[in-house]
Amino acid sequence: MDNLLKRTHYCGELREKNIGETVVVNGWVAKSRSLGQGLIFADIRDRSGIVQVVFGDGSPEEVVAKAASLRSEYSIGVKGVVRERESKNSKIETGSIEIVAEELSIYSESETPPIYIRDDDNVSGDLRLKYRYLDLRKPVMQNTLAIRNKMYHVIRNFFYENGFIEIETPLLAKPTPEGSRDFLVPSRVNPGKFYALPQSPQQFKQLLMIAGFDRYIQIAKCLRDEDLRADRQPEFTQIDIEMSYVDQEDILAVQEQFLKTLFKEMKGIDIQLPLPRLTWDEAMNRFGSDKPDLRFGFELHDLAPAVKDCSFKVFTDALASGGKVMGIDLDGCSDKFSRKDVDKMTESIKVFGAKGMVWLRVEKDEIKSSVSKFFSQEELRKIADVFNAKENDLILIVSGPKEIVWSSLGFLRRDTASKLGMLDPNEYKLLWVVDFPMFEWSDEENRFMAMHHPFTSPKKEDIHYLETGELDKIYADAYDIVINGYEAGGGSIRIHDSGLQKKIFEVLKLTDEDIQNRFGFFIDAFKYGAPPHGGLAYGLDRLCMLICGTDDIRQVIAFPKNQNAQCVMSDAPTTVETKDLDLLSIEVKKAEK
Ligand code: AMO
Repeated sequence: MDNLLKRTHYCGELREKNIGETVVVNGWVAKSRSLGQGLIFADIRDRSGIVQVVFGDGSPEEVVAKAASLRSEYSIGVKGVVRERESKNSKIETGSIEIVAEELSIYSESETPPIYIRDDDNVSGDLRLKYRYLDLRKPVMQNTLAIRNKMYHVIRNFFYENGFIEIETPLLAKPTPEGSRDFLVPSRVNPGKFYALPQSPQQFKQLLMIAGFDRYIQIAKCLRDEDLRADRQPEFTQIDIEMSYVDQEDILAVQEQFLKTLFKEMKGIDIQLPLPRLTWDEAMNRFGSDKPDLRFGFELHDLAPAVKDCSFKVFTDALASGGKVMGIDLDGCSDKFSRKDVDKMTESIKVFGAKGMVWLRVEKDEIKSSVSKFFSQEELRKIADVFNAKENDLILIVSGPKEIVWSSLGFLRRDTASKLGMLDPNEYKLLWVVDFPMFEWSDEENRFMAMHHPFTSPKKEDIHYLETGELDKIYADAYDIVINGYEAGGGSIRIHDSGLQKKIFEVLKLTDEDIQNRFGFFIDAFKYGAPPHGGLAYGLDRLCMLICGTDDIRQVIAFPKNQNAQCVMSDAPTTVETKDLDLLSIEVKKAEK
């Protein structure tokens, strides 16, 4: 094996000031080309960047001969002298120098790699993940993980300086209530019994408040067996926070300082405080989403006053049954969406339960519409006036139950803005969404469920509705931090009064037995002097995505899972041998789904 040449410099840090120095770099061959007549050029890459090495032009003959065998991704070391380059390359930071090789060590050869180690390589996601160790050699991936590393430092520094203490909580925990998304882990020494991997350290951090730690932080791995999306992984990281003797304002104030520090340190951006706030109701009614992207307008408008007396039954029926008629105005964009595009929009909102979509195109002398036979020009004008619409505006209208109207228009708002190229990844719009409803109705369960979790505190002024059973009137001291349309974090003030907690469980229709079995230990702890407390958790991966300007969470995780929650590199999850299952007292009923 060739000798290890001990590195003196990273490839990417060499500059004109190093001219004349003898240096050693270690890395991979990014590219090599022979110009004939004993002259070979190779680009060497390490995590810091790329530098050009010349074999020939003064290199010993045997070194040049050896360099002739270099191929892409060989792992090598080079010792040589830095000199000024004749033809400079302004595209790379080391472009004004090169190294004339004196020694070459080939540590290991490489087969032709199955993917190109280039940022612009567009092979399918699964191939990249199968050879993730090669994919991670790409400059963009090295850079992203370096950014993530810096985030850890900024986070820990900020919270350390503000009196928070980092405490690790267990990975082997008790299966959670409503824990259909738990990953279960069998215990060999307790046959037939299971741990669950934590969906979040929620209960432990509250117990740490009861234990007196007062200000807690953890960069915590969380695991959820849920369907994946571009911003969701089964295994992800939270910045998990809890504080004692605080109300919502105290928590938001500390977090705003944290976010200001994070964006300043990571992006050099000054975030203006206080951050804007929207109540949940306002967010839904104005943006059709509890995580509105405020980088663009296209706000929802209520069209009930304009259409309540119209002859179009779809609208009047929706209103009569307590639903909504709402619309958005794509101002100045009518000519950017063809008839076919609008048909596609109508199709696209069917997944939300929308039966259809009505459109209005505002033209110079008339308003065209998909429902023009039901509306006079004056009536259409009345609708257009709600938006102050002008020539070349395209108005999209959805009617029906409010949830369907919100989700359909919320989707169309984002989707059209994205198609119009209005989403600038370098612009950051942060806001708090506050005053979430405490409960939401579940058709599946035929009962109310906690919207956040059952330990969230209802607003003081709404507690009396627990007695009258008007659960839909109860709002919670719960809040989300929203950035550019992503839920970057969320939390709440927790209940610390066991009587109130018991009442919440009752309205959630949990029996005493359920409560005792599922979280008896947790409830017990509240008998011993629980302080008022609250907190939140950020999705660290999502914050990192936003900071890196990507919309794919896998770009910021070293070894992510694919859309089917598989690690295609190692082929996890996988079946295990019967003898191993026997040890765990487990029998698999159906191997296939
Ligand atoms: P929540 O479930 O809202 O709250 O999670 C907090 C934040 O974690 C991120 N997140 C995810 N990121 C990637 N992949 C996922 N599958 C995923 N799920 C959630 C989101 C989200 O805002 N214990 C509470 C927090 C609290 O009340 O203190 C909790 O876990 O950015």
